[in-house]
Amino acid sequence: MASLTGWLRRIGAEIRAALYAGGNRRDRWQHPDRVIGALAVSPGDRVADLGSGSGYFTRRLARAVAPDGIVFAVDADTALLERLASLARDEGLDTVRVVPVARDGLELPEPVDLLFVSATYHHLPDQAAYFANAVAYLRPGGRVAILESRGEGLLRHFFGHATPPGRIRAEMGQAGYELIAEHDIVDGHWFGVFRPAAG
Ligand SMILES: C[S@@+](CC[C@H](N)C(=O)[O-])C[C@H]1O[C@@H](n2cnc3c(N)ncnc32)[C@H](O)[C@@H]1O
Repeated sequence: MASLTGWLRRIGAEIRAALYAGGNRRDRWQHPDRVIGALAVSPGDRVADLGSGSGYFTRRLARAVAPDGIVFAVDADTALLERLASLARDEGLDTVRVVPVARDGLELPEPVDLLFVSATYHHLPDQAAYFANAVAYLRPGGRVAILESRGEGLLRHFFGHATPPGRIRAEMGQAGYELIAEHDIVDGHWFGVFRPAAG
């Protein structure tokens, strides 16, 4: 029974990873190198990839912070994290650390320079409270980057895996952040960078 449960868990993680991965087809519309390039991540940086999923961005961020930085792959799905840890080991990415979290709040082993949130904002509970708590995990000069489907078009609206940009700006303002950059890189997506508001 235990082995059947383990097998089902692994299969489930494989299916979810495949859904979040996308491969070369996703690269064509997501432009991951341009997304990460816009954030000017440097070797030695501490980055948290919140809702790391299949590790689509985690593994690229891990290369950008090498050799002496760290990327925390943060997710509530422990089976996906186990899969990602194994993938990172196979690829020799020794800058990746997996961090399981509860769905209701962020906890990191140490503060980071960048909290990166791709296709995950809409999953988080009470985003204003969530990111108000997250300020404690930012180093001086730390930023939060949010890449999120805008929710345009009937189907996206219907399935709900999206957040209108105005709502993100308002909730992050309530959480105590100010917007410092917006990038138009991924079609149909809003990509904004915040820092804790002064004072
Ligand atoms: C759509 S996937 C995005 C994966 C990845 N960021 C990407 O762009 O490919 C959303 C991820 O967020 C995770 N997630 C959902 N709610 C969460 C929460 N409250 N805390 C942490 N992770 C969460 C899910 O387990 C899933 O791996």
